[in-house]
Amino acid sequence: MVIDSSDLKDSLILVTGANGFVGTRLVDCLLKNGFRNLRCFVRPSGNHESLVLTINNYSGATIEIIKGNLLVKDDCKCATKDVSIVYHLAAGTGKSFSGCVLDSAVTTRNLLDALYSNTLLKRFVNVSSFSVYSNFKMCRGALLDETCPIDRNYRQRFDSYAFGKIKQEDIVFQYARERGIPYTILRPGVVFGPGRGGTILGRSGTDTFGFFMHITGRHKIPLTYVDNCADAIVRAGLVEGIDGEIFNVVDDDLPTSGALVRAVKRNIGPFFSVRVPYHLFYIFCSVWEKYSTWSHGQLQPVFNRRMCAASHKGNRFSNDKLKRLLGWKPIVPMDEALKRYFSYMKKNKKK
Ligand SMILES: NC(=O)c1ccc[n+]([C@@H]2O[C@H](COP(=O)([O-])OP(=O)(O)OC[C@H]3O[C@@H](n4cnc5c(N)ncnc54)[C@H](OP(=O)(O)O)[C@@H]3O)[C@@H](O)[C@H]2O)c1
Repeated sequence: MVIDSSDLKDSLILVTGANGFVGTRLVDCLLKNGFRNLRCFVRPSGNHESLVLTINNYSGATIEIIKGNLLVKDDCKCATKDVSIVYHLAAGTGKSFSGCVLDSAVTTRNLLDALYSNTLLKRFVNVSSFSVYSNFKMCRGALLDETCPIDRNYRQRFDSYAFGKIKQEDIVFQYARERGIPYTILRPGVVFGPGRGGTILGRSGTDTFGFFMHITGRHKIPLTYVDNCADAIVRAGLVEGIDGEIFNVVDDDLPTSGALVRAVKRNIGPFFSVRVPYHLFYIFCSVWEKYSTWSHGQLQPVFNRRMCAASHKGNRFSNDKLKRLLGWKPIVPMDEALKRYFSYMKKNKKK
């Protein structure tokens, strides 16, 4: 990192979701860059192994691990006491709408309430997601950047995670407007890398039906390697003059959907897949959505036109703003990033 943030090196920095996939790498990135006064907020029930291993690599830093729940107001007060920068990564990522609203939006409101009387706060960095966008009315191949609309058709989209993230952002905007909270928002695409099991093919197709339905297209997948993403997040808390800015986070040299499916088959192991053209899948989603409405929810509208567009329509993505305002560039190039991910996945493949 090339930012001169020497006056912040001893300031107290809070990271929520610090034991999560991105949170652990963010803590590593902060420590690597010489920040020595960190408070990591975790839930008591979480797995803290990677976080503790990471912290143990750095001697001479003051690192506090606070256990609690951001749904508890008193825990938020303890977490935010005397902090200068907050990196807020805790979020609800499950399928339950109420769970996502609680862990993404209510946690954010509680944190911002607790920060109200904090006079030291320099910035609240809210980590959001690409999922908040609506590309429903955009053409295939159009550029999806920070100026694109937010999806307000919650019912039709039927995406608990996106709903929680949109509500989370609304709260940040509201507190900035009414209470002058200085903030930045990052919206990463698909974050991948060692430490995250599971697939990176969610935007290439679906395996809901027992085989991989590969929604074809030459569109690119908005990947960001976890260390590159963490670096962008760190910068969004430090660079001066960017309060109120929103940044999409995607890497350079993004693979196409087809190239990614082939690479996964080659490097992790073959699987059966059927190619389905985007328009055919769109019709399928449309029929599913109509049946769900007609049957009063006998089938939940998990496949619907908005979800189809958001995941598979195929847009172009830009990290221009990230580069221009934050001086960011990917530390790990895409080839190397994929190599590291595949090697992790091979090692951790279930026998
Ligand atoms: N991974 C991606 O592809 C991706 C893409 C775009 C945006 N993002 C965003 O990046 C951030 C980090 O994602 P991630 O992949 O690192 O997710 P993750 O591994 O699931 O981490 C989420 C963290 O939030 C914590 N958390 C949830 N509810 C909480 C609560 N009520 N109180 C305190 N902590 C709570 C979890 O604690 P436990 O460990 O106890 O569950 C966990 O540490 C999230 O805001 C996510 O929306 C991620």
